[in-house]
Amino acid sequence: MFHNIPKAILDRMQYLEQVDAQDRRDGTPHLRRLRQIPRETGKFIAILAAGAPEGASLEIGASAGYSTLWLALACRDTARKIVTFEVSEEKVRLARETFRLTGLENIVECVQGDARECIKNYEQISFCFLDAEKENYLDCYEAVVPRMVRGGLLVADNAMSHGESLQSFIERARLDERVDVLIVPIGSGQLVGRKV
Ligand SMILES: C[S@@+](CC[C@H](N)C(=O)[O-])C[C@H]1O[C@@H](n2cnc3c(N)ncnc32)[C@H](O)[C@@H]1O
Repeated sequence: MFHNIPKAILDRMQYLEQVDAQDRRDGTPHLRRLRQIPRETGKFIAILAAGAPEGASLEIGASAGYSTLWLALACRDTARKIVTFEVSEEKVRLARETFRLTGLENIVECVQGDARECIKNYEQISFCFLDAEKENYLDCYEAVVPRMVRGGLLVADNAMSHGESLQSFIERARLDERVDVLIVPIGSGQLVGRKV
């Protein structure tokens, strides 16, 4: 999956990494920044997505499509598709540009809207990467888990970097008997939940 990544995908990954790094240096306002996951997290979610059971693969929070590119590598390998939700019109434009330039439009669908509502149109979810505004995590979790297949995986970013603001979400997931949960120290900390 990580060997022989097509040049167009690698080029776009590198470009978005540069933009993200520049934004951080420039002090670009929080909501305008791309706020992408690091490569290590990209590889982690791609490996998990490739091993998920049959069903719908979803992402909440596309930004410019960087994390989606990693998930798309898993989808290429497993002949699946992925739907990514993004609420910001400007980010949707950037993400669609990413998928057009990388030739992934037939694998990735970018849906504009609030994932808390959009999720209700999906069932049989086998994989979901959650990387949205932290105050939305709990609502997204409550929308995703009932729609997941047995053995389905939910991965939530920032479980360590934002442990305090995500406390109610993390507590809810940890005590939820529908899922087995572990927090893994990769990138900003990944909460991994498997539907039992
Ligand atoms: C941290 S960024 C995502 C970064 C992206 N996953 C990556 O690594 O390339 C969070 C994104 O989630 C979007 N977002 C926040 N809340 C959302 C919601 N409820 N539904 C859909 N998108 C949301 C924001 O507009 C922002 O672009």
